[in-house]
Amino acid sequence: MLASLLLLATAVVAAPSADTGCTRDQLQAVADSIVAAQTAGNPALVKPAAAADVAVTENRQSSSLASSILSRALKPDHVRSSLDTTQCATYTEMIVASGAKPYEIGVQVFLAPGDASAIHRVDTIYTSTGDWLFNITGTLYWASKESWTTIPEAQRDTRAVIQAAADAYCDIFSNKSTVVPWGTPCARLEGGSYTGKGAADDSCNVGIPSGVTLTKRRYVIDETIGAVDVMMAFADLPDSHDFRVEKGKLRYVHTMTVMTGAKGKSGGAKGRRRGVTSEIKESL
Ligand SMILES: *[C@@H]1O[C@H](CO)[C@@H](O)[C@H](O)[C@H]1NC(C)=O
Ligand SMILES: *[C@@H]1O[C@H](CO)[C@@H](O)[C@H](O)[C@H]1NC(C)=O
Repeated sequence: MLASLLLLATAVVAAPSADTGCTRDQLQAVADSIVAAQTAGNPALVKPAAAADVAVTENRQSSSLASSILSRALKPDHVRSSLDTTQCATYTEMIVASGAKPYEIGVQVFLAPGDASAIHRVDTIYTSTGDWLFNITGTLYWASKESWTTIPEAQRDTRAVIQAAADAYCDIFSNKSTVVPWGTPCARLEGGSYTGKGAADDSCNVGIPSGVTLTKRRYVIDETIGAVDVMMAFADLPDSHDFRVEKGKLRYVHTMTVMTGAKGKSGGAKGRRRGVTSEIKESL
C-alpha cells in the first residue's frame, strides 16, 4: 500500500503538467532515436513519428526526413544532447570522424509543448570538408576533452540567463557595445579549430569579426547542463552555435558554419558573403 502510494506520488511529480513541458525521459528517447536513425541511415527510426505537417530544414533549406542526412548511415564517434523540457525540444551534436567522409551534424527536434506524441519540426545543420575551419580530427579531439556535465541544481542558471549569454555573443558581431559575459576559462571550437589550450586563462574573446548580423535564431536550452544551441543565419550562411554557460558566463562555444552546398553556390549568397564577412574566405 505504502509502496504504491509512493509510486503514485513519484508519477505525479515526474509527469509534465497538462499543457506545458515534457519529461527528460521522453526527450532522451527522442535524442537517442536521432542517433539510432543516423547510425542506421534510416529516418523511420526517429521516434515519435513526424506530424503530417512536420517542417524539416537542412542547412536552412527546406527538406524532408526521407531525403535528409539522416538517410545516410553515419556512425557517430561522439554524441552530446541537450534536452529542453520547456519547449519539448532536443539538440544533438554528432561527430562522425571515422567514415569515408567526415561530418559534424547538429539536429534540433521540436515536439509540441505538453505533447510528446509527434515531431513538428526538425532543423539540421551539418558541415564537412570545405566548410568553415572544418577539421574533424580537431573537432573530435577537443569536443571529447570538454566537460558538459550536469550542474548542481543550486548553481544552475535560468533559461533567460543562458539565452542572454548566447544572444550577447551573437549580438557583438553587429554591435561592438554589447557586453558579453565571457567566462574564464572559455574555449571556442570553431569548426575544428580551438582557441583554448586547456589553461585556466583560456579566452573566447578572440577574433570576433564585425559588421555581421546573426539572425533567425532558434534556441534549444537545457538548464541542467547550462547549454543553449542556436541555429541561425550567420550573415546568410547556415550556422549553429552551441554554448555552455556556467554561472552566467560562457564556458564553451562550438560553431558550425556551412560554406558549401546549394546555399553556398548561389551567386547572390557568394557576393554578399564576400562583402560582409571578410574573415570567412571563399572556399568554393
Ligand atoms: C586538424 O586538427 C588536428 C588536431 O588539433 C591538428 O593536429 C591538425 O594539424 C589539424 N589539421 C589541419 C589541416 O589544420
Ligand atoms: C548595442 O548594444 C548596446 C549595449 O547593449 C545597446 O545599448 C544598444 O542599444 C545597441 N545598439 C543597437 C543599434 O542595437
